[in-house]
Amino acid sequence: MSDKRVTYKTKVCKSQESHRIILERSGLFGKDIKETFENAVIDDDNNEIYTFLQSEWDLKSWLYIYSRENGNGKSYTGNAIANMLVSKGILPYVIREVDMASQVQSTFTDSTGESEYALMGKWKCVPVLIIQDFGKYGVKKDSEWWPQHIYDIIDHRVIEGKPLVITSNYDIGNLETMEKRFGSNHGPAIRSRLLGQCEVWNMFGADRRLGAVS
Ligand SMILES: Nc1ncnc2c1ncn2[C@@H]1O[C@H](COP(=O)(O)OP(=O)(O)OP(=O)(O)O)[C@@H](O)[C@H]1O
Ligand SMILES: [Mg+2]
Repeated sequence: MSDKRVTYKTKVCKSQESHRIILERSGLFGKDIKETFENAVIDDDNNEIYTFLQSEWDLKSWLYIYSRENGNGKSYTGNAIANMLVSKGILPYVIREVDMASQVQSTFTDSTGESEYALMGKWKCVPVLIIQDFGKYGVKKDSEWWPQHIYDIIDHRVIEGKPLVITSNYDIGNLETMEKRFGSNHGPAIRSRLLGQCEVWNMFGADRRLGAVS
């Protein structure tokens, strides 16, 4: 008698497996995975935006989450959005702008250009792209190589109607700031597209990093 065993996958197994696959591809790692709305400290500073994101946001509209001050929870919120999307079976990709720039730089040794094309393709096409700490890299030594890439990703997502979520210390409404961060050519073009697409949310409150050590 042959010992053939058949494994039946239940609906629960399948959904756990698809959750695991989506999480693996989401760009979330380490403590990011624990940064959820469920685990968040909710207070007067974040109650309104967290209520909006969990029960009113349509999961498609573009968001620009901003505050000049450090540590009040912008990146946490970006990760909480990513974790929420994963739990709903939607693939996000969350990444810091500085990591995007260094990943593109690391492809410059590939003379075929294929590695860069693949990276850019991923960021243009992923269902929901979440860029953390937008504007941190920006223009370097008057070279707009990176702004040109970020412009290309944003423009592509506008054309394709694919959602983008951004967290940033930089005021998207301020033309001078955008020119400083992204150059005089791409700064205004990036600003125009983001202002046209994004619902802008301000984050408030004290630096939560300092609260943790006091
Ligand atoms: N609602 C929250 N509940 C619990 N911890 C939080 C919450 N919001 C933020 N934190 C924690 O506070 C610290 C600072 O948060 P975060 O990195 O999101 O700030 P930020 O606004 O992105 O800062 P920066 O402007 O420097 O990028 C992190 O350790 C984060 O895990
Ligand atoms: Mg941050």
